[in-house]
Amino acid sequence: MTHRRTQSRRQFLQATALLSAGLVAAPSVIVRGATQPGWTSNPFSLGIASGVPSSDGFVLWTRLIPDPSGVDPMVPGEIADDSVAVNYEIATDESMRNIVRRGIAAAEKTYAYSVHEVVHGLKPNRPYWYRFHSGDATSAIGCTRTAPRAGAALDRLKLSYFSCSHYETGYFSAYRHAARQAPDLAVFLGDYIYEYSDSRNPVVRHHARKSEARTLSQYRGRYTQYRLDPDLQAIHAACPALMIWDDHEVQNDYADKWSQTFDSPQDFLRRRAAAYQAFYEHMPLLPSQAPNGSAMQICHAFGDLLSVHLVDGRQYRSREACYGPPGKGHGHVETNSDCPERLDEARSMIGLQQETSLFNRLAASSTRWNLLAQDVMMAQLRQKTRTGEFGYWTDDWNGYPASRKRLLQHLHDSKTCNPVVISGDIHSFWTSDLKLDFDDTNSPTVASELVGTSVSSNGPPFEQFAGFLPDNPHIKFFESRKRGFVSLEIARKQMTARFKALADVTDRDSVISDLAVFAIEDGRAGAAKA
Ligand SMILES: [Fe+2]
Repeated sequence: MTHRRTQSRRQFLQATALLSAGLVAAPSVIVRGATQPGWTSNPFSLGIASGVPSSDGFVLWTRLIPDPSGVDPMVPGEIADDSVAVNYEIATDESMRNIVRRGIAAAEKTYAYSVHEVVHGLKPNRPYWYRFHSGDATSAIGCTRTAPRAGAALDRLKLSYFSCSHYETGYFSAYRHAARQAPDLAVFLGDYIYEYSDSRNPVVRHHARKSEARTLSQYRGRYTQYRLDPDLQAIHAACPALMIWDDHEVQNDYADKWSQTFDSPQDFLRRRAAAYQAFYEHMPLLPSQAPNGSAMQICHAFGDLLSVHLVDGRQYRSREACYGPPGKGHGHVETNSDCPERLDEARSMIGLQQETSLFNRLAASSTRWNLLAQDVMMAQLRQKTRTGEFGYWTDDWNGYPASRKRLLQHLHDSKTCNPVVISGDIHSFWTSDLKLDFDDTNSPTVASELVGTSVSSNGPPFEQFAGFLPDNPHIKFFESRKRGFVSLEIARKQMTARFKALADVTDRDSVISDLAVFAIEDGRAGAAKA
């Protein structure tokens, strides 16, 4: 049984004030009038993380949960207080000898005792190491780094990006292999958890709770189980992260307030708010990104050599085209004759407001490379139907062609420097030229798209999709039979993408190798095999 001694909120605030005033030494923080937690099991069982790197700091994350074995840990362990003090240390070396910052963060009950500590005042473009203490417990040590100052010359940056890690269908070896490469940044493109359990495919391990997550407690339970995975903990401990979500953080194929199961929008928004809160609680996000009811903004730019434009492809999108009757609300293939609504120019994939703010950021960007990190595939994919007419998937950008056209037109008109779109969702590798007009092969290529395969979720049928390729000449590469991730090396003259493929996602110790390597030259849109 977990036993702890904690402090009141008032005592915590007193201690924080004393620490800021330099009157109290940390890490053995003396909280006046309060006793320190004395844990009987590790409260840092979900690991640590950092994110949102700026030129002078980052966010540090952890969550106190001494007893994560509960299937739906509404209240982690037996913590009863509203706020628990967590000390943190930041050092310039991995053995934590040269400590340059100590402080106290608050783990608040409201957010399941998670910590989102924003650190400033550090030096730009260098690694730091960090750890947490609570009472007699100490967390693992994590590595993170600050970004270079805006405008400062940077020759090289290495990042890895991931999507779609269904816990049941495979191990998270992709995360482990990525962590070993020690990238400067990890970008998560969504489906970090899955709300449903897989009943159709053989599974390598089970969700603790098989039924679909719908409540805050149930979403917390999912994140808790995923976050216990050592490979997932390894990638977060290796570098700072940028996060966006896709659908499965809430529900398959939802769009704004529209559930795929035709729940009442009011009910669905309540569910979505619970899911967004659990997402915030488990991610290294800024406190300003804490969910406010059902409205949570996620948006951040990184860089100098590189800007990373995070796009929210779910929260603001128009309802999917040609929603079917109840039970058929999810993504499906539609032809123009059956579904003229798909072509409606008033519809948007990311909401008209986000289109405007994204366009402004792109136009204002002065970095060499501009990465659009977003959830679903952008390239047009014609799928020949039985009638011979082309059909289009309604849940990705193919369901919102007018919105895609506005974005690509803007990239073209604003002369955005080297735009590269990175995507997930479709559980397969794709390399495509994004054309100003996909139906005209002579139309200019405005950007390159590199879709990463899933970390573990099952891929779409290879033969069927490979059969679509002759009708889509802008697609240069497709492979759906491999799980893994993408490693990007960004240099001034060239961006290199390595498609990393696991030998066997059902083998916890699987090796990984390069399936294909693509290069994009500075000033020339379109990736070529390297
Ligand atoms: Fe997925």
